[in-house]
Parts: sequence; structure tokens; C-alpha cells
Amino acid sequence: MKILALESSCDETAAAVVEDGRHVLSSVVATQIEQHKIFGGVVPEIASRMHTEAVSGVTAEALAQANLTLDEIDAIAVTYAPGLIGALLVGVNYAKGLSLASGKPLVPVHHLRSHIAANYITHPDLEPPFLCLVVSGGNTLLVNVRGYTDFEIVGRTRDDAAGEALDKAARAMGLPYPGGVNLDKIAKDGNKTAFTFPHPHVDGAPLDFSFSGLKTSVLNTIHNAEQRGESIEVKDLGASFLSAVVDSLERNTEKALEQYPETQKLVLAGGVSANSVLRERMFNLAKRQNVKLYLPELSLCGDNAAMVGAQGFYEFSAGKRAGMSLNACASMPIAENEQE
Ligand code: KG4
Repeated sequence: MKILALESSCDETAAAVVEDGRHVLSSVVATQIEQHKIFGGVVPEIASRMHTEAVSGVTAEALAQANLTLDEIDAIAVTYAPGLIGALLVGVNYAKGLSLASGKPLVPVHHLRSHIAANYITHPDLEPPFLCLVVSGGNTLLVNVRGYTDFEIVGRTRDDAAGEALDKAARAMGLPYPGGVNLDKIAKDGNKTAFTFPHPHVDGAPLDFSFSGLKTSVLNTIHNAEQRGESIEVKDLGASFLSAVVDSLERNTEKALEQYPETQKLVLAGGVSANSVLRERMFNLAKRQNVKLYLPELSLCGDNAAMVGAQGFYEFSAGKRAGMSLNACASMPIAENEQE
């Protein structure tokens, strides 16, 4: 089964054709990074406008690279939630138009489910159940993936997402957007013990995360140094901060593996899963806990439509369809029975 997939939840306009959820026939990503860079972060209005300009060209290119026409496609999958509402609406409306014009079924896909599904492309042998740490710009979750469309949240952030904390800290350190990526680069040469940061716990919820205190702490460190006229070695600050964020991700993931001993597989998903420190620490954790580790290939960590096509296949197989009343939603829990 061949799915044409669209993604426009944040600052990448992407289209892909994926066969049977696992084989990528084409994947095209038009990134807006350069346009948002001068503002230090994503400007939602600019994102929406650029998606509108790019979506038809990117879709045509994905079909051309797969050497297929819309007629030869079996279904259209689209990211409908969560994300920037104006950005999501572009992909959703374009997909609705394609579905209406072609008569092909429309399949709505949750953005974080598709980040998890990036691993089905990278690892053809991977099947649920598994434990997944989802670390993206807007979300940090520990998810018990019981089936392809059956998710149980076992830990979540109570405030900021890990990616958001990394981006804000990087911006305060004067690093260009996208912050997390640049923080990763400079931290490689830094001393991770140069600065001490808090290691927050959420009382009564040992698998939940909190990153806002950590973020405030790094901002205070920078402001205090400025007020005293002292200079800070940014690579040391970056390495120490990144290490504290990863400590928290690692600690809770380890607890979750202990709490769910039947879990034999640990999976990472989302933009922050490209981080070199996190990948290394998860590798060691998996070894310690004697579980198999699955990491998405670097090109599939950030937003792309191939992962939407992968998850779209499993959503379609589970009977999920949308009609012309499909709307985009800025927030939406990954599990149908969960509150956000
Ligand atoms: O999953 P994603 O592409 O977008 C969302 O769906 O939210 O994640 C974007 C996040 C940003 O916070 C970005 O700074 C972070 O992923 N990121 C990284 C790295 N690459 C991307 N953070 C740390 N190290 C990286 N190498």
C-alpha cells in the first residue's frame, strides 16, 4: 500500500511516499530555518505563509521522485495535531483538497506518533511493544507503546519540553537558532562539570519531568555573570546544562525500564533524539539494563513526512479515516484516553 504523506506542524514543509509503512519511496523536506533564524525562533505567521508557498511544490516533487501519480497512491496521510495551528492548517487543508479531488481516503496522523514511527523505517525488525522516550521541541514523554496505535503515557513533562529548555538556554548563550543543534555542537568541547545545575524531581510522580527550574537556573547564571561583568565560557556552560538535561531524561527512562521489566526494547524519538550526548547515554543505559536500543537515523529525527507515511499506514490499517470536517488541533494527547 502506497501512502502520500504531508507534514507542516512547525517549520518544515514535507511530503513523502511510503510503502507499507516501512519503505520510503521518496521524502522531500523544505526547511524554513533560514527565514526564522534572524528572529531567534519560529515566527508562526511566517511559518504558515511559507508552508502555503511550498506545499504544492513539495508534494509534486515527492510524487515525481517516487515516480508515481496521485492516481497510483492508495491513501493520503497528514499531520493534524499537535503543532502550530496556522502551520498545521496548511497541510490539513491541502491534504483534504487532494483527497476530495482524487477520491483517496484521508488519514489523520498525530505528530508524536509519527516521530515514534520514524523508527519503523530505520529498523525494519522493530515492532511494539516497547518503551519510548519522545523528546521533541514541544514535548517530553515516556510512552509505553503497546501497539502501533495503542499508547500509554507513563511519564510527561510538567512544564517545558527538553527541546524547548535547550533552545531557550542556547538562545540566552548567544547561539543561533536552532539552539539545540548548536548547543550540541559547542558542548562537545566543553567541560560538563564546570557548572552545577539542579536535578529536579516531581514529587509523587517519579517518571514525570520538569525542565523550567533548570532553564531558569541557566538564565540566572548568565544574568549574574553579566551583572558582575564576568565572562562565561559558553562551551562549558552548554556542556554542563546539556548534561543536566540528559541526566534527567536518563534517570526517568531508567526508572521506567525498572517499572516495566517486561519491556525488552528502548526506543528514542523526536528532534532531540539527534543529540550526541543523549544517544551515548541511552546506549550505556540500554547496556546496563540489558535491553535493545533503537535510535532513529539522524535524517529522520527532525520533522519529515516519511514518518507520517509510516504511522499513517498503521493508522489506516487500524481503520482510522477522516472526512472533509477534519480540523487541525494545536494540542492533542498521544493516547486517545489521556488528558493533555
Ligand atoms: O521533533 P522536532 O523536530 O520538532 C517538534 O516536533 O517539536 O524537535 C525540534 C527540537 C528543537 O528543540 C531542536 O533544538 C531539537 O529538537 N534538536 C536538538 C538537536 N537536534 C534538534 N537538540 C539537541 N541536540 C540536537 N542535536
